[in-house]
Parts: sequence; C-alpha cells; structure tokens
Amino acid sequence: MCGIVGYIGEENATGIIIEGLKKLEYRGYDSSGIALCTKENKLLVRKKKGRIANLEKMIKGEDLTANLGIGHTRWATHGAPSDVNAHPHTDMSGKIAVVHNGIIENFMELKKELTEKHGVEFKSETDTEVVANLIGVCYEEEKDLEAAVYKALKRVRGSYGLGVVCADEPDKLVAARKDSPLIIGLGKRGNFIASDIPAVLKYCRQIYLLENNEMAVIKENDVKIYDADHKEVQREVFNVTWDADAAEKEGYEHFMLKEIHEQPDGIRDTLVRRMDDDGEIVLDGINLTKEDIENFDKVYIVACGTAYHAGLIGKYAIEKLAKISVEVDVASEFRYRDPFIDDKTLFIAISQSGETLDTLAALREAKKKGARVLSVVNVVGSSVARESDDVFYTWAGPEIAVASTKAYTTQLVCMYMIGLYMGRKKGIVSDETYRKYIDELMAVPEKVSKILDQEEKIADIAKKLYTKNGVFYIGRGIDSAVSYEGSLKLKEISYINSFAIAAGELKHGTIALIEQGTLVIAIATQDKLFEKMLSNIKEVKARGAFVMAVAKEGNTAIEEESNEVIYIPQCMDEITPLLSIVPLQLFAYYVARNRGCDIDKPKNLAKSVTVE
Ligand code: G6P
Repeated sequence: MCGIVGYIGEENATGIIIEGLKKLEYRGYDSSGIALCTKENKLLVRKKKGRIANLEKMIKGEDLTANLGIGHTRWATHGAPSDVNAHPHTDMSGKIAVVHNGIIENFMELKKELTEKHGVEFKSETDTEVVANLIGVCYEEEKDLEAAVYKALKRVRGSYGLGVVCADEPDKLVAARKDSPLIIGLGKRGNFIASDIPAVLKYCRQIYLLENNEMAVIKENDVKIYDADHKEVQREVFNVTWDADAAEKEGYEHFMLKEIHEQPDGIRDTLVRRMDDDGEIVLDGINLTKEDIENFDKVYIVACGTAYHAGLIGKYAIEKLAKISVEVDVASEFRYRDPFIDDKTLFIAISQSGETLDTLAALREAKKKGARVLSVVNVVGSSVARESDDVFYTWAGPEIAVASTKAYTTQLVCMYMIGLYMGRKKGIVSDETYRKYIDELMAVPEKVSKILDQEEKIADIAKKLYTKNGVFYIGRGIDSAVSYEGSLKLKEISYINSFAIAAGELKHGTIALIEQGTLVIAIATQDKLFEKMLSNIKEVKARGAFVMAVAKEGNTAIEEESNEVIYIPQCMDEITPLLSIVPLQLFAYYVARNRGCDIDKPKNLAKSVTVE
C-alpha cells in the first residue's frame, strides 16, 4: 500500500525519486517524504502530509543535490497521516534514515527497550521510527551499515520492505524484504530500489526481485544480494516487458481483477493482525469494555452501496454471536426516519473511503442522539474514522476500481470479529464456538485462493451468458444478503439490469418476470436451507429460466436442477459469504469484459460519493 523508491548513481537523486513516487500515486497515500545523503556526509530529510505536490512545494528553491536518496509515499497504519508520521524516519543520531512498507509486530516491545536502555526519544507514532533507531543502536556497535541492518533485522518480527541510508556511508543503499515486495532496478547511470516496478520503469527494464528474508547492498555500479544467513546469492535478471500502464496493474488487465485476486491477502491481514499469540481477538483502536457492551440494547449498522451489503451480513453475525438486535439501514434513509437512538445504542458505520457524505451525516446524527459510534473503515484518518469513538480498520490496502471487492470481504471479516468480540466480552460465546469460528475464518484465505483457481471456468460461463438482458439473484438466509452484492457488482460494471430477491419471496410477485431463457443466479450454500433452495430453483426452471448456481462442494444434487454450478469449498454456513461472493465478482467482471465495458471506471459512478 505504501510506496518506496530509492536511487544511487550519477544523477541527482531528488528529481528521480520524486518522479518515481508520482508513478506510485495511483496506489493511494496520505503523505510523502524523501531523505538524501550528500557527498559531505549530510543527511537531509523532507516530508509532508498530503499530496506529493505539497512536498515539491516545500523543497522548491532548495539545493538538494545528492547522488543517494530514498523516498516514500505513506498510507497510514500506525499513527494518523501527518508530517511527523510521514517517512523517511531517522534514528536519534540523525545519521540513518529508513523508509518502510509493512508492519512491525513487536514494535511496542522494541520501543520500550530502545527508550529504557538507550534513551531514545521518539518523535512519531510509527513502527518505522523504531526500526530506524534499532538500526542506529546496532550501527553504534558495528560501525558498518550493512552489518547494522543485518543485526537489527534479526530482532524484528513482522513484515517489511526496507530502504536504509546512512550519512557516513554515502556510497550505498541497503534494502531488505520480508512479506512486502521490493525490487532492485539496474539502470545505466545508477541503480534503484522500489516497492513496485512502475516507479523505475522509465529508467530500467532489468530488475532483480528480492525474495523474503533477503537483504541487498546497492552501490552505483554494483548490487549484492544476501540470504537470511548473510551468504551472497546470485539472482537472475528479470526483464520487464510490460508498459507502464500494465505494470501499475501488476500484469492484470484491470484494477478490479487485481483487487479480486488480492482478497486472500487482505482477509489474512485484517484477521491475523488482530489475533494475539493465544488466538484471542485484540481489537486495537477499540475501547469497548464489557460494561459498555452489556449496556447496549441495540445496534444500528449504517452504510451505502457495497458497505451496506456488508452490514446485512453483519446483522447475521452480530445477532447470532452477541445476541443483540441489529438494524441495518442505508445511510441516505437513516436520518430521515427519526430512528430511535440513545446512549444504549451502538452505531456502526461501514465505509471503504470513510468520506461518503450520506454515511458521515448519519454518523453525526447518531452521535448527536448519544450513540456510541464504531466505524469500520479502510482509509486511515478519513472523516468517518476521525469522527468515530472507535475505529476498526479493514486492512484491504488501497482500492482503486470503483466496484468494491476486497473492501467488501475485509468488511465482512470485521463484522465476524466484532460479533465474536462482543459475544466473548458478554461471556455468551463458548470456547468451543469461538475456536470453531477462528479456525474457519483462518482457513478462508486459502479457500478464496481455491475459488480464484476456477477463474477460467467462470470466464467461460460468462462468455456464454454475457448477452442476457435481465438477471435475477436469489438466495435464502445469509445467501440472500450475498445475492444483493452479487447483483450490484453486475449492475455497476456491465450495466445489465439485475435484481436480487430472497428466494422465498419470488413467488409473491417477481416470479411473473421469469420467462424462457431468463438468467437466474441461485446462491445455495446454506446446508439447512439447501432443500428449500432446490425447490426455488425448480420453480424458476419450470418457467424456462437458465440457472447458474453457487453451492458448497459435495452438494452435487444441485447439478440436476441447474444449468451451471460453481462450487465453493466446504465451510460452516455462517461464513459462506466470504467465499460465495468471489465467483459472483469474477462472473460480473467477465460479463462486463465481454461486453466491452469500462470496468474500473463505470459510467455514472464514483469511487467516493461526497455529495448527498
Ligand atoms: C459509492 C461507490 C460504491 C460504494 C459506496 C460506498 O457509491 O460507487 O462502490 O460501495 O459509494 O462507499 P464507501 O466508501 O462509503 O464504502
């Protein structure tokens, strides 16, 4: 999510780095910064909240000539977007600067040690400043940057893509990676590091891909890569053949497809980082005590679009696990029906952008009436986040395609975690139930990957069906909530008129619209409702519908009633939405692609709607 660019060579590093950072702007960021090492052994650091243009304005007219530098665009995780929290971060001596992508899991413990044992005074709230100081302390002992970084990284737990420079050693740039991408670009007049290929594509097409647990020492005319035991390794050069546009999408044709494929990682991040060593949920940023939770007599979930659909699943999860009544409302309606809200209400706002005006206005209304406001937001420091009492961040990373995919699945993870957290605090979720949910949730990323493996099959089905004019999505129980989101995905990007309805409600009117060849997408993942869904499928088939079903592996009886079936891996009924939505996203994507639609920027739609 954040971006890293570094350069060492004959040219002036400043312009090259800023230009590289601009190539990463599409990923989203909230601040940027640069650190330069001059030949006179000086370290110059400049950083600024907001757009890169703010940084450029700040350094305009300054003589920032240097042949070595690192730069960063930050997307806040630890600490709000601000000048101080922006990267690069320096150690206490002011000699060493670090840019970092990823999350240092043991940063609290390291911070304590650095403060107590080494008297470090921290300026920012970031985990990166801890790394900078850890390297600084190791540098005091080793008097060598390469050895210091190696030593420091032995102490660090978590994920990182790192770029490190030291004023006393202006002939090298040290880089390292673990679970966060980092590449080394081999240029004609110098070498580069970057978190993403587009940043360096203008200067080089030959790159080394750094592997996990490797570090590298990059000089103007030389690159050395070392493994975890600090033994030098040889790496083949990778030749980039994509153009800049394709590189931004990492080879995917559209951001939407890339983001669909990022779901296993997004779900894993949202989940794993909230789990302590004993498997207990730790909700950082949420201060809801047992007393607070017991005081609530109702929950309102309010959101728009896809986020509203995540709320529908949230109702199932929270009512079941926390045994409290939950109402879900679209934000634009909520305010105008004078909802019954007081200090016994927990108000949950869900928003990817955190800037949707309808959601923000509903939140303000709820707050005015005394509700406790908890928000589930993807963009750190956004308006919804800032105005809430507690914030639960979905760590989906920047979502660029207008049609929301990875934000939705990570919002669902949050819904389950909030339900489990509340139920646990109230003492009504047994150890056994809790374990079962956690085990099932932890298995989701792998299962989503398995569904993504069926992409070709789903693309083939879409190829057969993309000319359909009206599509119905049906489901029962929690599947009906998923059908709304599946239908919205298709509408948004393919412009096909589609309609979602609870399967049992069909017979009360809507079935009149089913005729020969009408496409009905039946989501039938609930074991306890499976027979009933089969009956609904029979009803529409009898009227000529073409049925594409989504069912759990093993429930093969559905094949007799449907024209096409896409299977999702076995899992408990309660968490199927995390899986069943994935084939529906892919189906919508391939239908739209066949129809030649502008998938990432559909007509009439905006990613963030900041008007009422
Ligand atoms: C817009 C987007 C939708 C999104 C909705 C809510 O309408 O086009 O994709 O679901 O806003 O956005 P939010 O950022 O609040 O989740």
